[in-house]
Amino acid sequence: MNENFKVLSNGVKMPSIGFGTYKSGNDEETAKIVKYALKIGYRQIDTASFYGNEVGIGNGIKESGINREDIFLVTKLWNDDHGYDKTIKAFNKSLERLQVDYIDLYLVHWPNKLNSETWKAFEYLYKTGKVKSIGVCNFKVAHLEELKKTAQIMPMVNQIEIHPQSSKNDMLSYCEENNIQLVAWSPIMRGKLFSNELMIGLAEKYKKTIAQIILRWHLQRGVIPIPKSSNEERIKENLNIFDFELSNDDIKTIDLLNEGDNVSVSGVPENTTYLKF
Ligand SMILES: NC(=O)c1ccc[n+]([C@@H]2O[C@H](COP(=O)([O-])OP(=O)(O)OC[C@H]3O[C@@H](n4cnc5c(N)ncnc54)[C@H](OP(=O)(O)O)[C@@H]3O)[C@@H](O)[C@H]2O)c1
Repeated sequence: MNENFKVLSNGVKMPSIGFGTYKSGNDEETAKIVKYALKIGYRQIDTASFYGNEVGIGNGIKESGINREDIFLVTKLWNDDHGYDKTIKAFNKSLERLQVDYIDLYLVHWPNKLNSETWKAFEYLYKTGKVKSIGVCNFKVAHLEELKKTAQIMPMVNQIEIHPQSSKNDMLSYCEENNIQLVAWSPIMRGKLFSNELMIGLAEKYKKTIAQIILRWHLQRGVIPIPKSSNEERIKENLNIFDFELSNDDIKTIDLLNEGDNVSVSGVPENTTYLKF
């Protein structure tokens, strides 16, 4: 099995680690780190219209000199832009800011009562070829089941918060059964596990950093992590996870840190009202 990418339900190859960019800084700083990340080998860049950094991301991609078709670019539809027409408009604005003519993966950022209408626009964009894959973020099983009733094409990806303290095993099983690729945001829990004794022990055992142990845990569970860093050493460190393997026992030990679905490093945005499930 090739560890460098996962194959989505529509056959598209998605790199098995991505570069997160939430709070990546101003356009200049963003362009600089995106260019660096691409230079050292990241091929998936995760952004969102909400992050306000799409122009910087687009500049970084252009300045990198790497062919557009070798980069897997992900962006997201923000909460204010749900509904068919607004989705199309918001998508075109993202394209413009990113200075590209297609997106590899377009995601609904948070569930919304207009999910079904919004999704019709996603399906339309997918059919036009302007988006190579479509997906959602922060959807629970009930949101996905509800979408199933009206969707012609099911999401290829669900991007949710996953880290050892919230490993979302039920969602992982559901996604495996339904051929949906899981992507982990806040994959290293924004550093919150770096003083955990168990993690310190594993880092010593494998001669890797705690960030690398956690990112490797994601890979071996079949989940795509998208760690963010604005520091060149740490950007490199986070990519250096393909030269070792955690034993099944150690994976199970890390699983013991799970405290359930509601453990979160960040709150839900104020205008997200559709999390009733
Ligand atoms: N769909 C959604 O709703 C959603 C929500 C949140 C995030 N996301 C996406 O997921 C990405 C990742 O999540 P995140 O940014 O919240 O959290 P994260 O990747 O778990 O952690 C990022 C934080 O950890 C630090 N860090 C990174 N690598 C490190 C290392 N090797 N050693 C020590 N510290 C390290 C970074 O600081 P430095 O920059 O100083 O290195 C930053 O403060 C985001 O950037 C965004 O693209 C999506």
